[in-house]
Amino acid sequence: MTARKIIIDTDPGQDDAVAILLALASPEEIEVLGITAVAGNVPLALTQKNARIICELANRTDIPVFAGCDAPLKRPLVTAEHVHGKTGLDGPTLPDPSMPLQDAHAVDFIIETLRNHPAGTVTLCPLGPLTNIATALEKAPDIAPRIAEIVLMGGAYFEVGNITPAAEFNIYVDPEAADIVFRSGAPITVMPLDVTHKALVTKPRNDAFRALGTQVGEAVALMTDFFERFDKEKYGSDGAPLHDPCVTAYLIRPDLFSGRHINVEIETTSELTLGMTVADWWGVTDRAANATFMGDLDADGFFALLTERLARL
Ligand code: RIB
Ligand code: CA
Repeated sequence: MTARKIIIDTDPGQDDAVAILLALASPEEIEVLGITAVAGNVPLALTQKNARIICELANRTDIPVFAGCDAPLKRPLVTAEHVHGKTGLDGPTLPDPSMPLQDAHAVDFIIETLRNHPAGTVTLCPLGPLTNIATALEKAPDIAPRIAEIVLMGGAYFEVGNITPAAEFNIYVDPEAADIVFRSGAPITVMPLDVTHKALVTKPRNDAFRALGTQVGEAVALMTDFFERFDKEKYGSDGAPLHDPCVTAYLIRPDLFSGRHINVEIETTSELTLGMTVADWWGVTDRAANATFMGDLDADGFFALLTERLARL
């Protein structure tokens, strides 16, 4: 099986970090062509720095990292330091990066990569607000049919919102961008809170990271220890939800996930439900299906895969 070529678009964020590490630990299935940073959990200056910190943690300074959009298309940026800490990667103490940031803008890298590879061979993996992806689609509409698949973390249906009663953070921060992406016609697979809230880093799972006895294992244990407090307080959950690693785990073991191919549209006008993913899970409309919306995962299988792969770094 040839490795799937991907671009990871990200706002690190501890869970983004684990998703990136899982991808870099899985060269048989995943070839990371580049990492594009977007403003989200923390401002762009930090997300582009954190992306490079993570590449250096994985000893992969060969991965090109690009800075993208520093604000949503039409709204002021909303960040999540209350979840991820001031740096966005609170938990472990990791050195500042020495690898360079690429000069090109992330949006241009996304466009050029899709144009320069055969159509249907590059997958986009957004782990944050969809501003970079939407900007690329608006700037170069010709890329839409060239995208193999967009596998993104975002949205919610049964789990409803985590930043408002109705909306999940990534979609809420830039709902106009999400609307552009969901209307693009590209094949979309969605990892919503409905799935990611089942990927909880319980204490035994966190202990398994630490037991790896490696710098990566220790860093992941410290990251997930840190960012679990928000969800524990809010949901009483039994550990941090590993939202973004569901995206990269799907590329390796899609059989761990189950969902439905349904219509998903984005609320972009009502202030009350702004950023809601209106998912027609029960097929009550005749709106055309445009996304595979995941609803369940084999959590033990997910953590077994994640821990086994992290041990490689
Ligand atoms: O709502 C969870 C999502 O928002 C995750 O991608 C997390 O990293 C934040 O970006
Ligand atoms: Ca993220």
